[in-house]
Amino acid sequence: MTVAPTLPGAVTVRVPAKVNLELRVGPRRPDGYHSLATVYQAVSLHDEVSVARWDDWQVVPTGTYKSLIPTDGDNLAVRAARLVAERWSVDEALSIRIDKDIPVAGGMAGGSADAAATLVACDQLWGLGLDRDDLAELAGMLGSDVPFPLAGGNAMGSGRGEQLAPVLARGTFHWVFAISDTGLSTPEVYAECDRLRERDGVEVPEPHVSPELMAALRSGDPAALGAALHNDLEPAAFSLRPRLRELRDAGVEFGALGGIVSGSGPTVAFLTESHEAALDLSVSLAASDLCRDLRRAKGPVHGAHVVATPRD
Ligand code: C5P
Repeated sequence: MTVAPTLPGAVTVRVPAKVNLELRVGPRRPDGYHSLATVYQAVSLHDEVSVARWDDWQVVPTGTYKSLIPTDGDNLAVRAARLVAERWSVDEALSIRIDKDIPVAGGMAGGSADAAATLVACDQLWGLGLDRDDLAELAGMLGSDVPFPLAGGNAMGSGRGEQLAPVLARGTFHWVFAISDTGLSTPEVYAECDRLRERDGVEVPEPHVSPELMAALRSGDPAALGAALHNDLEPAAFSLRPRLRELRDAGVEFGALGGIVSGSGPTVAFLTESHEAALDLSVSLAASDLCRDLRRAKGPVHGAHVVATPRD
């Protein structure tokens, strides 16, 4: 793997991926978003974002999934940096290097993680002294999934997913992430969820996180957590990508404690008993022809943090 060199004077921030342990989708709101009740867990797949002053705006992709990173102004990291520059009247352009190890468009919030990392990096580079609330506000403006990677750990999300509250949890959980298919677009999956609900005449209540999931997190018991995993977007993801259901069923048959589509998919997240069980499950899934990429990770892990500054 060739790694693009970090520019002199760069600030580097490391940021985790997430999995939604529970994702309850409420009614569609007048603004087009859905009210959510969700529990996020940050997991040990990380991107690293480095920002440095440059003559013009540029994105330098590197890492495992570098070919899948958009390099234009649509990149959420560029939008994050421009938002900070605008708000604090900083008249400078940046080179933004994204070292990508979080699967792209998989429902693991990789793009959102990069935006969160960019906010933290710009704050440090430009010496703005932003506090957690400032950063969370900017993050919420960029996307529903952007505030969580700032916090990391486990957190409950409400509103459209951007309003966070801490969750009492114990223990470390071992995951296998199976990537079966090309990316699913988040708006497409929500639209399919609406379509299926309308077709079936489902009355959609305001969403709530289940007491079973909260109890499982408090106890640190992976079997209880495996049984409590839930994603309301799963039927929509299965409808758009029928092979995902086969993949989920295969993982559970191979011994996972639970398996769910991660966020809006198409990655399927499997919870296992231990590090060794995760290795065994990876071997079984690799031997099936149901997925094209497998990643192991543990959670929870810390949120976005600076790992290198110009003084290092
Ligand atoms: O907030 P973000 O830009 O990540 O959302 C992407 C899309 O996902 C939205 O445009 C919307 O279609 C859908 N979405 C939703 N309800 C949410 C979060 C996202 O409908 N709570």
